[in-house]
Amino acid sequence: MSKRKIVTEPDPILRKKSQRLEKVDDELRKLLDEMLETMYSAPGIGLAAVQVGILKRAIVIDISKDKEKKNPFFLINPEIISKSKNTSIYEEGCLSLPGYFAEIQRPAECSVKYIDYNGNEKEIQAKGLLSTCIQHEVDHLNGVLFIDYLSKLKRDMIVKKLIKHKKELNKIIL
Ligand code: NI
Repeated sequence: MSKRKIVTEPDPILRKKSQRLEKVDDELRKLLDEMLETMYSAPGIGLAAVQVGILKRAIVIDISKDKEKKNPFFLINPEIISKSKNTSIYEEGCLSLPGYFAEIQRPAECSVKYIDYNGNEKEIQAKGLLSTCIQHEVDHLNGVLFIDYLSKLKRDMIVKKLIKHKKELNKIIL
């Protein structure tokens, strides 16, 4: 298994809509395994395929706090079919926006239909951190980043800083 490179803002691929997967096969499972390894070593609790440069509707999540007891959750073609009216706020970060966090308000609960690692159709009712995490990752599949929920001024400031940071990094590499 190998790790993949994580794509960061302002890479234009992050703004593209990912495509539905037609089948769950070993090739897809290999991608999911590599996404999971990439997410664990980052470290993060959620990762969408687009974040490793693949425009497919697949996400991996693991919100377990105990590092020893991993609890990976794979969602293929996830579809949020309902959202609660009540909301919750988490301070969100994103592996594609390194170093930035913001309080984001989202529906506290959501129902999600998806295909699992073995190709079976599933549906769950998510709440709390899992609900926020699923919504954040499904946003990625639609080209949406958490900074889009902030004011334009704040968003532009973050993107500008990320570009500057990238340039600085390049100077060191070169
Ligand atoms: Ni993210």
